[in-house]
Amino acid sequence: MRKGRHPACLLFHFAARMFFAAACLAVVAAGRTAAHAQEVPSVPDLLLGSAWYPEQWPESRWDADLALMEAAHLNVVRVGEFAWSRMEPAEGQYDLDWLARAIRLAEKHHIAVVIGTPTDAPPAWLTSKYPDTLRMDENGHQAQHGGRRQFNYGSPRYRLFCADITGRLAQRFGHDTDVIGWQIGNEYTDESFDPATRAQFQQWLQRRYGTLDALNQHWATAYWSQTYDRWDEIPLVATGGNPGLLLEHRHFVTDTWRSFQRVQIDAIRKWADPRQFITTNIGGLAWSDHFDHYEITRDLDLASWDDYVGQGQLDSIRNGAMHDFVRGWKRGPFWVMETQPGSVNWAPINTTLSRGETRVMAWQAIGHGANAVLYWQWRSALNGQEQYHGTLVGPDGEPMPIYSEVSQIGSEFERAASALRRTQPVAQVAILESYDSRWAIDFQPHNHNYDELQVLLDWYRPLRERGLTVDVLNATAPLNDYKLVVAPGLNVLSPELATHLKAYVEQGGHLVLGPRSGMKDEYDSLNPQRQPGPLVPALGGRVEQYYALDGAVPVSGALGSGAATIWAEQLSTQASDARVLLRFGKSNGWLDDQPAMITRPLGKGTVTYLGAILDDLLMQNVTTWMIDGARVQPEFVALPEDVEVCRRVGSGRTIYILLNHGAQPASITLPAPMRDLLVDHPPQTSVTLASQGVALLEEQAQPAGR
Ligand code: GAL
Repeated sequence: MRKGRHPACLLFHFAARMFFAAACLAVVAAGRTAAHAQEVPSVPDLLLGSAWYPEQWPESRWDADLALMEAAHLNVVRVGEFAWSRMEPAEGQYDLDWLARAIRLAEKHHIAVVIGTPTDAPPAWLTSKYPDTLRMDENGHQAQHGGRRQFNYGSPRYRLFCADITGRLAQRFGHDTDVIGWQIGNEYTDESFDPATRAQFQQWLQRRYGTLDALNQHWATAYWSQTYDRWDEIPLVATGGNPGLLLEHRHFVTDTWRSFQRVQIDAIRKWADPRQFITTNIGGLAWSDHFDHYEITRDLDLASWDDYVGQGQLDSIRNGAMHDFVRGWKRGPFWVMETQPGSVNWAPINTTLSRGETRVMAWQAIGHGANAVLYWQWRSALNGQEQYHGTLVGPDGEPMPIYSEVSQIGSEFERAASALRRTQPVAQVAILESYDSRWAIDFQPHNHNYDELQVLLDWYRPLRERGLTVDVLNATAPLNDYKLVVAPGLNVLSPELATHLKAYVEQGGHLVLGPRSGMKDEYDSLNPQRQPGPLVPALGGRVEQYYALDGAVPVSGALGSGAATIWAEQLSTQASDARVLLRFGKSNGWLDDQPAMITRPLGKGTVTYLGAILDDLLMQNVTTWMIDGARVQPEFVALPEDVEVCRRVGSGRTIYILLNHGAQPASITLPAPMRDLLVDHPPQTSVTLASQGVALLEEQAQPAGR
């Protein structure tokens, strides 16, 4: 028991907390939708900011910090996400006054505030008094205080504490004019394997399947005598189990994080103005697949992620693909909630981005549809686990070298904000993604070199190198706006998804499927047809056999010649109007001279299957064939290697963001006279970008009559 506090007093606090938490959970105003930050008149269209932890510093220092931020044109801070022990120093004793004072000071410096709810780092009093709120790993070890993320995401008690502190924050700051939004927790990462969570999993399965017979049938549990006679026999494992169980565990994890998040959304919405958005930062690895990001962001107003390079330099294609992927979660503008000011502390070698690279990264984010970029962090705590991480000011409180580059970004954002207002990337081409498919392949890769992100990038890169905007979307998204849809790895293909894709093709769409498509159903069972399962009739062909490769296999045909590595599928045609575009050359005998890529007209469109991972050059030819066949229009002129173009369209404007990621200067002849919004020049017909150079070009309207 806490020293100096009477048991009755504690009981009273607990009861009061539970009452308050329950009240927070009870109400969510129907039909309430939060406006995006950029629609609030007082909030700038482009935001630049930092994570700021006033609780780590004497209050006398805050004004100096905020003045330095304002001088660097920073206009947003995220606060509070690890400050629970400062907000509630003892059970039932709240202190939010310091946060109110910090917010008022931020306002004085024209800096908007996003409040992070502190639920990623429970205070010691909480987990020591209620150890059931601590999570347990797969080996049965219970987490302990002293790090973060030690909480059990399924614990009803922990959720009540979360609802309570979040509701109190929302009650206090839900109408605060300077608070523009909320971040729930921080990077949902660690699930729990404790007995109570296992029971929740079993109940969840019972709701999903209804009967054990259905579960046993879908998981084919006759295999290895896995048949379940009681729900409580079902294990909770994340690795090594029946693929059906493993896939359902991922769904359960998604649903559990979603309900964990929902508790806090409800607590905020009970009090907060609708103009305040709610987000969470999905984390440093947008590609990570602990849970389904489409499902988690479904309940949020805004998607945001953490864009870290770690060791080495920016991989512009990969990073651009991640931005496009995040933009696809909610099919709209997103935020980069954290990015590195130069370096991180967690990579094997924590190298620093080159001078100018931080600026290019910020503009790349905007080019791909972000409306805000925030650095992590402003200044490191003098102690704690992240002392070596990059910061904008040093332990002495004075600017670090990177501060001046960030300040340049800030002044450029200010300059460009109104031109970019309500503009977004608009694509003719979509790449389809699915978590079920990724999980299914990851459970059984069959070739340990099969890297699904790499496969996606193999398809993405040649499209981007032609300057095309690419949307990366959930496979179930509406597709009618796209001339070309490619699906590099839809391993799990339910009958519903097949109907959706077929309808797109019949109405005039061009669909290209990649290797491993259509092998599994939605329970991760093998489809009884061969690949692509329910799309075999539409394709007029199928996969006869797949082969994991440990070397290169020649491929050639109407689209050129090259090689396949890692994976090859022997295709066949069944319909008379199906055509072979590529064939394998001499290899293992089975593949020799067999189709590697086939296509067929269907309705007003075409469906195509590529059963191999091709080398870059041949993939470029395949890309040319795909975009020509789908009549995808070029969006800009051909660009030198290492120069990236992004396009944002809206409000009657088209703006191109050119980024030179290379080490050498690059000159580009423009398709029309354009004004660089970042410099005071008259419109130009060419532009030269230094290494790490950026241009923000707007096409000039032609005089009437021309
Ligand atoms: C993020 C995390 C931050 C900080 C940062 C360091 O993933 O949200 O709190 O730890 O990494 O790079």
